[in-house]
Amino acid sequence: MSATAKKMAPMPADILAQKGGTPLVVLTAYTTPVAQLTDPHCDIVLVGDSVGMVLHGLSSTIGVTMEMMVMHGAAVKRGLQNAMMVIDMPFGSYEESPEQAFRNAATLMRETGAAAVKLEGGVAMADTIRHLTSRSIPVMAHIGLTPQAINTLGGYKVQGRGEDRKRVMDDAKAVAEAGAFSVVLEKVPANLADEITAEIPIPTIGIGASAGCDGQVLVVDDMLGLFTAFKPKFAKRYATLGEDADAAIAAYASEVRARTFPAAEHVFGDAIPEKKK
Ligand code: KIV
Repeated sequence: MSATAKKMAPMPADILAQKGGTPLVVLTAYTTPVAQLTDPHCDIVLVGDSVGMVLHGLSSTIGVTMEMMVMHGAAVKRGLQNAMMVIDMPFGSYEESPEQAFRNAATLMRETGAAAVKLEGGVAMADTIRHLTSRSIPVMAHIGLTPQAINTLGGYKVQGRGEDRKRVMDDAKAVAEAGAFSVVLEKVPANLADEITAEIPIPTIGIGASAGCDGQVLVVDDMLGLFTAFKPKFAKRYATLGEDADAAIAAYASEVRARTFPAAEHVFGDAIPEKKK
């Protein structure tokens, strides 16, 4: 896709059809202006629950609420014309039962205009994915490192090494069989990601996985260098906007203190009233 070409936003079925084709480009966005920046370049824009850590200063994604997702989802949708929007189901909004998942997924789609939801979990979530997809809710699955489960996974560790390999492969097969139209593989060994990509019929979208996946996703604030609290190995920085912002704010502060800002071109003269005839 050319960076400027206009196109119709793809539907989940179009994404599914791209299995094995040109790699899918996915980035997160949480606001209208960033959505506008990502829109011409991405196939999918994901309103990730990473919003909690990136924009709200939470220490994990566990504190993210439906209200936060609805607010950010609606904002992102206003900035999109070309890319398909997928929205994360936050922790606690889908795990209890397929019915709970349907209610909250429907709310997210209705209130934000998202074309699909993403939820974390493999074998354990297969029935829920089946329930949603058979009721008109397209699902992107998320397996491997599932950040909402850090308390049971024991932190942000690589998943699927050694004897754990089969568990992650089983998760991939289960979500594909349940009807997910794509699956995020987070922080799994590259050769396992390649094996899963070859094995299942739906696109794999890697993050800390392999260039052999059917697509890649990054957190936009990570790749722009705006989120600097920590840097995962897979989060390649394509810009240093955090450093640029720091320099700009420091320059502003020093000019204010030196009274060199505002200068003549930033202030208004007094209008001379026209003489009455
Ligand atoms: O919340 C998020 O941003 C995500 C991506 C990292 C895949 O789930």
